[in-house]
Amino acid sequence: MIGVFDSGYGGLSVLDAIARQLPRADLLYLADTAHVPYGDKPEGFITGRVLAIGEHLAAQGCSLIVVACNTATTTAIQALRDHLPGIPIVGVEPGVKPAAQSTRTKRIAVLATEATAQSRRLAQLIASHAANVAVEVVPCPGWASHVEALRPLTGEFRAEVAAKIAPLIASGVDRIVLGCTHYAFLTPIIEPLIAGRAELVDVADAVARQVVRLGGAMSGRAELWLQATAKPQRLQYSLPMLGLTALAERSVTPQLVRL
Ligand code: DGL
Repeated sequence: MIGVFDSGYGGLSVLDAIARQLPRADLLYLADTAHVPYGDKPEGFITGRVLAIGEHLAAQGCSLIVVACNTATTTAIQALRDHLPGIPIVGVEPGVKPAAQSTRTKRIAVLATEATAQSRRLAQLIASHAANVAVEVVPCPGWASHVEALRPLTGEFRAEVAAKIAPLIASGVDRIVLGCTHYAFLTPIIEPLIAGRAELVDVADAVARQVVRLGGAMSGRAELWLQATAKPQRLQYSLPMLGLTALAERSVTPQLVRL
């Protein structure tokens, strides 16, 4: 079984990519909804949550764990690997490398939570893979919570997103990295703002390919278990709301877990 977790619903975008590449695998998704968002929390808190969740997923029998959250990955993936040395762990990091390799204008932007935007790991990623490219790191406080609220993408929120995107496009940015897994669900409002001028970079499919490389075929009964640290029914309800109908058909009764 593959364990996938995030602070909330954002990692469902990664789970969806994994389920498409491994249609027979058994999957367990845990949303830490009692503590979402992570993006405005201190490093020590995020690391504590990641270790507790990792231990729980290992105890549930997961043979591979996916940290489907950029914030948790940049903050704590090393601590988790040290804590669970016997389990392969796949993380999600902003797609700085593919963006830097494909940009024509040599200007890229990374949209991320405050924690990811300020992280040493993102600075290292940029130094290693985008040294010859101008990189604008754009913290987007509140965006993950907006997705989490399952609110319609209202005019007011659209205007907030447009205010962040317009200056990037005006400055010649042609690759915009979705550096938070929640932002995949904002694609319908970002795409029209950048059409013909820039492309979004999302690494969910690349993460799923890495899961296949490390985990093999992972054949099971194609089951999907949902767990949440608060409001588990709402996690199940989020699947159709976020357009994830194939996952919604696979999921079984969600469970509350206290960690
Ligand atoms: N989905 C997460 C990420 O990729 C975290 C969002 C949050 O909890 O602030 O960064």
